[in-house]
Amino acid sequence: KRPAGAPDKALARKVTKVGVVGAGLMASQLALLFARRLEVPVVLTDLDQARLDKGVAYVHAEVDKLLAKGRVSGDQANRLRSLVSGSLTKDAFADADLVIEAVFEDLKVKKQVFAEVEAVVGPECVLATNTSSLSVTAMASGLRHPERVVGFHFFNPVAVLPLLEIVRGERTDDATLATAFATGKALKKSCVLVKDAPAFVVNRLLTRFMGEVIGAVDEGTPIETADRALDGLGLPMSAFALLQLVGPAVALHVAETLHEAFPDRYKVSASLATLVKAGKPGVFAPDFSIDPE
Ligand code: CAA
Repeated sequence: KRPAGAPDKALARKVTKVGVVGAGLMASQLALLFARRLEVPVVLTDLDQARLDKGVAYVHAEVDKLLAKGRVSGDQANRLRSLVSGSLTKDAFADADLVIEAVFEDLKVKKQVFAEVEAVVGPECVLATNTSSLSVTAMASGLRHPERVVGFHFFNPVAVLPLLEIVRGERTDDATLATAFATGKALKKSCVLVKDAPAFVVNRLLTRFMGEVIGAVDEGTPIETADRALDGLGLPMSAFALLQLVGPAVALHVAETLHEAFPDRYKVSASLATLVKAGKPGVFAPDFSIDPE
């Protein structure tokens, strides 16, 4: 059955090579997922060699884990390793059919990335963004082919969580959307079409949950108590472990985007802002204490 709002799958274009912009944790997880499920070459790009090496090393380490668990054979592991490569220039995307960006959450940066990619790829190459909360329409504006831009919002850990929010921008055409759905299906994700609205759907919920948990701490609830709040909903991770997984900086960015769009519904916790400003690497680091002062 076709997911609600998905266009005719006959319009989908074939994806035979994938580019990933960024080689951070999310980007590296995406590279592995695309290589494993589509069995096509995947090229990661980033600004410097050290980051690229780290991204490729992450993929290799995850392949080792799959091999150790018997999820892939030795041959498949070798093939997976050979499918994922790193390149410092986006020229390596020239023959890609789909490029996904997973860089810093900044509209200007992402627009710049898409402009650079567009200068290299063919006119039908899909440009996907893994943004958590920014407008896909705004990201496409100014491009020569805004109709090939689509939101592809994955959840961390990408290998485990089944949902994929596919975001249709104002200019996204049916062929792009059909390609996005066909690709999402090949990635074995459960795809839903969401509106291009701030933070789409899932992050609105998550931000509300986390906002209330951190708000409780702001109001004097001990952090260890507030941490248990999501257990009451049967969610698999404690609140602050989840915050740590998402990354406080990403969580703050989403909260700020939602606060701007819906000031009555979303607050930005002073504690979260302080935590991010202080550059705390781990929410539950032994010396951690929430202190808005
Ligand atoms: N990469 C790949 N696989 C991973 C992984 C990772 N980072 N983390 C865990 N896994 C795998 C494990 O290998 C294990 O797989 P097998 O069963 O095949 O061996 C499986 O997941 C279960 O892992 P564990 O037994 O180690 O631990 P667990 O049962 O506690 O599950 C978890 C760990 C999957 C992370 C689980 O706690 C979970 O789903 N947590 C919720 C995560 C969540 O809500 N993420 C959404 C964040 S929001 C977001 O990402 C979007 C945004 O824009 C901010």
